[in-house]
Amino acid sequence: MANPERILLREETLDPSYLPARLVRRETELGIATKRFRDALSKGLPYHLMVTGGVGSGKTALVRRLATDLERTGRGTELPVRFAYINCWRRASDRTVMLDLLHTVDVSLPDRGYSLSEMVDVFEQGLRRHPQHLLVILDEAAALVKQETKLVYLLSRSREVALGSISLLLVAAEDLLPYLDAASRSSFGVTHRLALAPYTREDLVEILGARAELALRRGSVERETLDQIARIVAPNGDARFGLELLAGAAHAAEDAESEMVLPEHVRRAKGSLVPTLSESQLEALSTNELGVLLALSRSLKGKGSAVPSQKLRTTHAALLEELKGAPMSRTTFWRTLKELERDGLITLEAAGSGESSRVAMDELPASYLATLVEERMGRGSARKG
Ligand SMILES: Nc1ncnc2c1ncn2[C@@H]1O[C@H](COP(=O)(O)OP(=O)(O)OP(=O)(O)O)[C@@H](O)[C@H]1O
Ligand SMILES: [Mg+2]
Repeated sequence: MANPERILLREETLDPSYLPARLVRRETELGIATKRFRDALSKGLPYHLMVTGGVGSGKTALVRRLATDLERTGRGTELPVRFAYINCWRRASDRTVMLDLLHTVDVSLPDRGYSLSEMVDVFEQGLRRHPQHLLVILDEAAALVKQETKLVYLLSRSREVALGSISLLLVAAEDLLPYLDAASRSSFGVTHRLALAPYTREDLVEILGARAELALRRGSVERETLDQIARIVAPNGDARFGLELLAGAAHAAEDAESEMVLPEHVRRAKGSLVPTLSESQLEALSTNELGVLLALSRSLKGKGSAVPSQKLRTTHAALLEELKGAPMSRTTFWRTLKELERDGLITLEAAGSGESSRVAMDELPASYLATLVEERMGRGSARKG
């Protein structure tokens, strides 16, 4: 299968730091937030917003997209908009965040010897020198807010404390209101909060598709393979893990000199990112389960991210015949599938009416699983593929 054609044409566009021009499946949220900011800014007022959502739900991408767009459309207007992005995770104190903010108004102070209020004074002078609306993004803000910050109050009351025109965007996984003082809390009422729901499997397929379009050779990955990745990451709605799997699978495909990114490459990527099947788990399986797994891994070794259960049953029956085992009843076959699903080794997907349901295994490369299972069943003829 020699095919030297590359698949990863623009790998940097799968990097977590890359900000896509379009955030598919977050258009509504982005639209709402943009409108609220524009409405306020056009009246010369600041606007504060708290964005929450789970890991990989697109919080950072959303606020960076929002701020970049506001900065661009604010250019040339009376009060230009500028944003400062600060990740508080490593800088969880008012003073360290303030030092970063000072840089955004082109002031640098030594990081010792100044109190917070002295720093705020210098910041105010800096802001005055360059009149602008400053959009301060505090990402991973939980770390800061849990330390009884005064800065959130100062920034959200910038007008009252004569600090110039500042909007504050707080980003966190959890709701921060319980940690804020009463005065700051009043800046983040219901119309100042945006909770991002976890991405669904369908959302993730669309997101992966859009990012694959940017990064990979056209036509090098089928929707079924993207759906396989989405199925794996959907329980956490984590787009970042999905993109990581996509990049890993594309690398595995290139290493194998395959023309396409195939389900087997996804399994390989998943197995190397999070090894899920331990040997002790395999040892605990019954002979019935092993037989079904072996049939499944053989069926999956080629193309396809899942097989119809009917087809699997046929493959399994043939395998039993080959091994001179007793045939298995339909009920036992189903019970075995259910057991494997409960153990987290396979996924059963209901199909449309009249169709047989589909059986998927995303944990390990099917070829590797086949070898393991064959070894365990005492057949030396491990087939590598
Ligand atoms: N709607 C989307 N369209 C395209 N790419 C997206 C979308 N949502 C998220 N991504 C991508 O998924 C990755 C994770 O998103 P992001 O970093 O914004 O998540 P997060 O909610 O900030 O996660 P964390 O809580 O871990 O900080 C990024 O690479 C981002 O570009
Ligand atoms: Mg983030």
